[in-house]
Parts: sequence; C-alpha cells; structure tokens
Amino acid sequence: MILTTGGTGYIGSHTVVELLNAGFEVLIVDDLSNSEKEVVQRIEKITNKKVAFEEIDLKNKEKTFAIFEKYPTINAIVHFAASKAVGESVEKPLMYYENNIGSLINLLQASAKYEINNFVFSSSCTVYGQPNVLPVTENTPRCEAESPYGNTKKIAEDILKDTAFADKTFKSIALRYFNPIGAHPTGLIGELPRGVPANLIPFVTQTAFGLRKELSIFGNDYNTPDGTCIRDYINVVDLAKAHVISIKRLLENKNKSNYEFFNIGTGKGSTVLEVVKAFEKSTGVKVNYKIVAKRPGDIEKIWADTTYANIELGWKAETGLEETLASAWKWEKNYRA
Ligand code: UFG
Repeated sequence: MILTTGGTGYIGSHTVVELLNAGFEVLIVDDLSNSEKEVVQRIEKITNKKVAFEEIDLKNKEKTFAIFEKYPTINAIVHFAASKAVGESVEKPLMYYENNIGSLINLLQASAKYEINNFVFSSSCTVYGQPNVLPVTENTPRCEAESPYGNTKKIAEDILKDTAFADKTFKSIALRYFNPIGAHPTGLIGELPRGVPANLIPFVTQTAFGLRKELSIFGNDYNTPDGTCIRDYINVVDLAKAHVISIKRLLENKNKSNYEFFNIGTGKGSTVLEVVKAFEKSTGVKVNYKIVAKRPGDIEKIWADTTYANIELGWKAETGLEETLASAWKWEKNYRA
C-alpha cells in the first residue's frame, strides 16, 4: 500500500489516480486544509477503484505514528502534504517551517520506526532560483531560497539526503517539479485554488470563464523574446506518472543511490504571452489581459533539461501545451457547471 500524503490536493490527486491505475493500493492522508474530501469520490469514479482515506494533520506526531499501526501493509510513501503559497510564506515563515518541515520529520521518524524505506518527495525547481545557465540540469547548483516556502523545499531535500546517508536502508527520490498545469482528461479533478488564484493557469481559466475581468501579466520588459517571463509548464498527469515510476524504482531497488533527485519538466520554456495565445488557440476562448508591473520575487526565465529523468527514469513529458491548457479549461467548466 502506498501512503500518499496530501492525496486530495492538486498533484496528489492526479498521482493517486495513476498509482491506482498502475495496480497499487493507496491510502490518502490529508488534513483537508487546502482541498476537499469529495476528491476521494472523484478519484474512485475515474479509476473505478477504492482508496482509503484518513483526515490527519501530519504535524500531530501521535496520529502520524498511528497511521502505520492501522495500515501495516504500507510499503512506500509519496509525500505531497505541504503549504505552497510563496507570498503567504513570506508573511508566515514559522507556519511554513512548522507545516512543511515539522510534518516531514514526523513522517520520517514514523518511517524509521515502521521500517518504511521508500520515500518519494515533491520538491520544486524553486531550489535553483534564477540560474545563470539554461536549461537547468540536476548539476545546476541550488541557490539561496527566495522565500520561506522555497527554503522548506531546500531544507527538506537536505533532510532526505542526510537521512539516506545515516540510514543505508532508507531510499528516497526528490522530484523537482517545474510548473505543473492542466487537469485530468475526464475533467473530474484539477487545480482548485481557494480565493483569488496566485498562479497563472487558474487565473487564465477563471478569466476565460468570466469570473475575473482580466488577467494581469506581471511585466513585459524581461530579457525574453516577448518580454514576459518564461516557465516550463508540465502537464499534471505526466508529472503524476513520474511518481509512479519513482515508486517502482524504489520498490524494485533500481535506484542508483539512496538519495536521488530529478528535474520533472518538459524541457521547453514558454512565455506568459505564449501561454495565453496557446490557451486561446486550443479553446477558442479569448482571455482579456493587461500588462502590469513586475511581481516582486519573480524569476525571469527557467526551464528544465530533462535528459537525466528521460534516461534514468525512462520518463518523458508526453502532452503538449495546447492539449494541457484545454484540459485545464475543461476542468474549470466542469467544476463551475
Ligand atoms: N503570472 C502572471 N499573472 C498572474 C499569475 C502569474 O503574469 O496572475 C506569471 C508570473 O509572473 C510567472 C508565470 O506567470 O511569470 C507563472 O507564475 P505562477 O505563479 O503560475 O508560477 P511561478 O513560476 O511563480 O511559481 C511556481 C509555483 C511555486 C514554485 C515556483 C518554482 O507556483 O510554488 O513555481 O519556481 F515555487
């Protein structure tokens, strides 16, 4: 059984679907602080399989340990549960360190006690900051984090590396996501931001739907072909599949070292304006936008070199940008219907 923390969240829910499709039994643990319980039923509808669910806050050590008593067949963990709003983390750093690092430590202590030695972690390309050389490979040095959120990802990677060094039986893989977007092709699960979306794609789909008057594009005088920032937008289902491959790699002892990390992106950068145009082309719906001031802390450009993941994991992003944006639009419409 695969324990998936944060399994009702955006990337977690898509990963649970792929794990179930691959034949794994799954237990979701989530505190529902940023997701809905109904996602569990939606996952079951998509897969026609049952998934176990426990509403638990991993900051609670006793309850975290109790999970492993109750589900003795857990043999691997995919750990998504974390707070993820960059701006909020600047305002509430302690909350971010407590949520993201405190829960990781509890989980690792429980893993050690119950001898669960296979651990996949959701990291982020945020660990690279603004790299000097593009695209970024896994050898690109990590830099000083730009936010407490980013720092929690960096610290968590270090914790995993140190744990794997100290305990030779413990194996972990950190996946450094670039910008996950899109939704399951059924339109039954997707990204569900609370309040005004901070991220580009939910803002685009909500604007297209008429919930927002216009998209604000943050800056158009960056050193990029059209002046807007470049990101590597990765389809969330493709991303989910990277977790299944990583879990299998650990369970089959195919890992090359006890702590590995991989870039998970498409290898292709797109500007904000290119994304807006691709959305309009694939959906036929216009997106009103205006150019506004740069957003503080935004990185000018980043995209992944995915060669290592392609070769070592045998994983590759398969879905194109337009198809992915169409899936985000389908989800937005389904959800609002
Ligand atoms: N953008 C806009 N308008 C918006 C929202 C975003 O123009 O309303 C632009 C941003 O300036 C940026 C691009 O769209 O150029 C993507 O922005 P997102 O907020 O969607 O994503 P970020 O790249 O800023 O952040 C994402 C994750 C973070 C993670 C980071 C790692 O949301 O959790 O990647 O680099 F830390």
